[in-house]
Amino acid sequence: MKNHKHEKESEAHKIFREKAGHNPRGLLPQTVNPDEETVPGIIHPGSTGVIYCSDRAMANGFSYAAAHEWANLGQGAPEVGDIPDAPPRPQNINIPVDSLEYAPTTGVKALREAVANLYNLTYREGKESQYTYENVCIVPGGRAGLSRLAAFRPPDVLFQSYQVPDYTAYDQVLGAFRRLVPVPTSLDVENNYAMDLNQIKKDIKTQGLQVILASNPRNPTGQVIQGEPLKDLVQLSRDTTTTLILDEFYSWYIYPENEKELGKSISSAAYVEDVNKDSIVIVDGLTKNWRLPGWRVCWVMGPKNLISALSQSGSFLDGGANHPLQLAAIPLLDPAHVQREKISLQKHFKAKRDHVLARLEKLGLKVEIPPSATFYIWLNLEHLPAPLNNGLTFFEELLKEQTIVIPGIFFDINPSHRRNLFNSPCHHFVRLSFGPPLADLDKGLDAMGRVLKKAKKEGMHHFGHSYKPSLDGTHTPINV
Ligand SMILES: Cc1ncc(COP(=O)(O)O)c(C=O)c1O
Repeated sequence: MKNHKHEKESEAHKIFREKAGHNPRGLLPQTVNPDEETVPGIIHPGSTGVIYCSDRAMANGFSYAAAHEWANLGQGAPEVGDIPDAPPRPQNINIPVDSLEYAPTTGVKALREAVANLYNLTYREGKESQYTYENVCIVPGGRAGLSRLAAFRPPDVLFQSYQVPDYTAYDQVLGAFRRLVPVPTSLDVENNYAMDLNQIKKDIKTQGLQVILASNPRNPTGQVIQGEPLKDLVQLSRDTTTTLILDEFYSWYIYPENEKELGKSISSAAYVEDVNKDSIVIVDGLTKNWRLPGWRVCWVMGPKNLISALSQSGSFLDGGANHPLQLAAIPLLDPAHVQREKISLQKHFKAKRDHVLARLEKLGLKVEIPPSATFYIWLNLEHLPAPLNNGLTFFEELLKEQTIVIPGIFFDINPSHRRNLFNSPCHHFVRLSFGPPLADLDKGLDAMGRVLKKAKKEGMHHFGHSYKPSLDGTHTPINV
């Protein structure tokens, strides 16, 4: 099997490029691709990783009705059912008449208070400056929070999503507001994909960077900045008056080796000095930590001024989070309840992580840098024979086995898609999610085993071709 050097030689990559928004942009001569203009004047935003992966899965027979036959290790969501020792899952919600009204665009006051209280208790005990409801804005999901933040930046501000790879929606959220410029940095394997504080300092100085955005813990690498380095990052923001937006959606998904540390979580809130002066903005919510992605109840925390600005952008962007579910969320933020949730979640997800890592190793897919947080495994396939050694082809081959993973290139922040995809630092990677229940994880690992066995026994001529054409129509979203 020929070892391809360029995406043009790969069937999986050709399919990817055919999708609206994935063809290289910005090449000369500048043309408008009519396929991308949905109706006159409205350009297609491009298919997101979520839509692309679900579209390709559906081309291979995936649907909600047939979902149980599939192993979805792509879905960026935790299992939502019962897990051992966790409080019972919410099953009913009250809908008082008042909740039929719009909620304020900053959210229900009692929920804002509950969020502030939880952060003060968890991260700020004994500190003079404490969060109040005025530091909290409830938003209809994490992405809505990010969009609200992105919507009101003045035109000259550089947003830096600091790490490549990082959460896929940053590319699109930032790209939707064209004034914002993501500045990608390289994937640093030697350094455990860690953030380079010295490089950040340089960029702040040389590029006049004013806002930094990063997920911590980090999707998709499963790494986390905590303790002194996190404190230093907060200090850097303070020293340089650079706003730091930390997406802390996986703040409970931490896996300490020592059992006694179970129940701890991480947040930059622990290192903020004055909650109204430090430009630290935290985005989190019920989506991952509370395992309630369908509720769409999340929050942005930061200085009071910021919250009133978020109220404005929310009023024209999304109109606020669901009112009855905000009321239903209040008891879920009770600190004792939260502690039970955290401990059961950490035990359960740690066991799943260890199980998947052990099985991958047996399959010859040892993970170079295992996740110490989140429920993602960033798997390097470089050592496999071509073409299984690239994430997009590995993804297509697993679809034939009713298994979904996410190709690494979706986590590359590559707004114009100009470069040869084979040169992406994420080209050789896939992201596996251990969010789903254990039985699904095993099903997916069995499928990987079958593909690798076939490669070993029958050679590589089976791979890299004969992919099903995409279907048009509605999609079952696979969240990335
Ligand atoms: C880092 C990160 N932030 C935010 C979100 C999304 O949050 P929501 O589904 O509430 O919009 C995700 C979901 O995948 C994520 O991985």
